[in-house]
Amino acid sequence: MTAFSLDGAVALVTGATGGIGRASCRALAEAGAIVIASDLAAEAEVEGAVAYRQLDVTSEDAWAELIRAIASEHERLDILVNNAGISITNAIAETSLAEFRKCMAINVEGVFLGTKAAQDLLARSGQTRQGGSSVINLSSVGGLKGAAFMAAYCTSKGGVKLFSKSAAVEFAMLGLPIRVNSVHPGGIDTNMMDTIYARYVESGLFPDEATARNIVSAGHAMGRMGDTEEIANGIVYLASPAASFMTGSELVIDGGMTAK
Ligand SMILES: NC(=O)c1ccc[n+]([C@@H]2O[C@H](COP(=O)([O-])OP(=O)(O)OC[C@H]3O[C@@H](n4cnc5c(N)ncnc54)[C@H](O)[C@@H]3O)[C@@H](O)[C@H]2O)c1
Repeated sequence: MTAFSLDGAVALVTGATGGIGRASCRALAEAGAIVIASDLAAEAEVEGAVAYRQLDVTSEDAWAELIRAIASEHERLDILVNNAGISITNAIAETSLAEFRKCMAINVEGVFLGTKAAQDLLARSGQTRQGGSSVINLSSVGGLKGAAFMAAYCTSKGGVKLFSKSAAVEFAMLGLPIRVNSVHPGGIDTNMMDTIYARYVESGLFPDEATARNIVSAGHAMGRMGDTEEIANGIVYLASPAASFMTGSELVIDGGMTAK
């Protein structure tokens, strides 16, 4: 078994019917994990997952119920991928308080609720797993730098970054074998980016979606968007014993976007 193997580990992925979520379920399963996929829909098929469970990440009760079910069916949880998220693409002057709060509720409170609900099970499981258990929170390049028409989103992703660091330090200080890291993708080809291009055009920032896509692509040093698999591979690494000394860190997978 290599240090990158996830054999025997149980993983939960939120937002698992989206682009990065699906790729993560596939990649975690390929590395040997037993994957439970979750998302808003009542039912879904997700490649690589042994089960699909409905979970709205903003519901504390739903989190408690799902973690109880995983504890009773699998007796452990080694990997939690807090991936569910939404983007809000709007000028600050046009963003309603309700929109702003919705972004915080899903992107930030969802990560807090999931980490809190799973902490005890992750801690127990981490004691019997090389490298401990692993929480992987999807932030963004938007959690590292600001962007026009993305204030709510960038605020939420900055929150995810510092929640992750705080949890990492706290769990280490408490002697809990739970590593916590954030992942910061650049622009990745998923429904979320399609929505962002459409909103850029509606907001008058770009004349059409093709122009928006070209300009966003050119913002990466490598001059292209990323694939979902390129993010999933980083998630597998953070989940694995190979990342046993990684906690509180920011894994930036952005084709050089923030390097320039
Ligand atoms: N695509 C990108 O360019 C990009 C870049 C940086 C970060 N990210 C982050 O990666 C994560 C995945 O994004 P994606 O690109 O795959 O987007 P996506 O829109 O394809 O998938 C997001 C998933 O989250 C789910 N979701 C939304 N609200 C939810 C809720 N309340 N409870 C549970 N699930 C909910 C959606 O149903 C969807 O399946 C997000 O956190 C996103 O912010 C994406």
